[in-house]
Amino acid sequence: MNQAAVKIPKVEAIPPTGAHVPLIERYLERLPFEPGDPLVSLQEGSTPLLRAPVLSELVGATVRLKLEGANPTGSFKDRGMTCAVSAAVRDGAKAVICASTGNTAASAAAYAARAGITCAVIVPEGKIAQGKMAQTLVHGARVISLKGNFDQALTLVRELTDTHPIVLVNSVNEYRIEGQKTAAFEIHEGLDGGLEALCIPVGNAGNITSYWRGFREMGAAPKLFGFQAEGAAPLVEGRVIEHPETVASAIRIGNPVRWEDAMAAARDSRGAIRVVSDAEILAAYRLLASKEGMFCEPASAASVAGLLKYGADGAEQIVCVLTGRGLKDPETAIANNDGKVIQCVAERGPIEEAVLGDP
Ligand code: F0G
Repeated sequence: MNQAAVKIPKVEAIPPTGAHVPLIERYLERLPFEPGDPLVSLQEGSTPLLRAPVLSELVGATVRLKLEGANPTGSFKDRGMTCAVSAAVRDGAKAVICASTGNTAASAAAYAARAGITCAVIVPEGKIAQGKMAQTLVHGARVISLKGNFDQALTLVRELTDTHPIVLVNSVNEYRIEGQKTAAFEIHEGLDGGLEALCIPVGNAGNITSYWRGFREMGAAPKLFGFQAEGAAPLVEGRVIEHPETVASAIRIGNPVRWEDAMAAARDSRGAIRVVSDAEILAAYRLLASKEGMFCEPASAASVAGLLKYGADGAEQIVCVLTGRGLKDPETAIANNDGKVIQCVAERGPIEEAVLGDP
């Protein structure tokens, strides 16, 4: 089964998607804002929910992918950031700061640029993907490369914001959680309340917390299955990991700030938080790209790796959240694929051989 086997249905009922409306406008009644408040938006949210025929076949259920990489800066962080930065501007802030494995930094930098305020980010040295670094720099943020890991960076920014008038936009900030819960609204609406299980990568654990809040507000209770990378699985091991390691740099976190909330989300939804290896993450990453046509970043593929490894407790309607776009991390993509580049001189014969010859 592949995409080519899917036929255009005769009658297409196109649901209103809310596309082209900033997320805060779309869900104003459910967010902590009032008409007339400042709005800092890049038209985030309203992301696609894509059927995944190959995965569905493999799992024996209907699997869809929530494409959060379709947000303006290429990750789900924009949902929280439109709220965090709009609130910061409303409250008179002139600067925002975050610790980040890359995506929060890129998103904060973009929304701060849009708002005309300054942004500083602290990132673990040598551990953030090139695309994210490129975004953060081009948006004009001050980038501090820390000789340390994400958890140390977060501790330091929390101390800094205790003593300086700079707004912290990590997911300790409630506006981040509020904004990110809207992805649950979209899935709930998109599936007419039919979702049974959600698979999601877990790092600092803000996003799983947000989804659970969102589903609860909709009166829904799908099972939430969160996945951590083997070398960075504090929630699964029940202890802080001092030196987290994984190929999925976005979730290379040893002491998640939303620890209790994430455990509660898994428990109360009758789901679980489980572990997937780097090899399983990369296998899912390649499968998504080569069979579903969907290029996500490695951390995002943890959701699919987990579904393939553990199943979803018999659920028939499943959504995997693809949290970020593949182009964020070109190095990992180039180092992990089965494709090859064929060198060729500019002549007819060699070109024919290169294109049509045995691979
Ligand atoms: N997927 C991606 C692509 C991420 O960037 C992150 C987190 C997660 C999943 C995990 O989400 O932290 O809410 O559990 N990235 C943060 C950052 C930590 O700094 O960009 P979470």
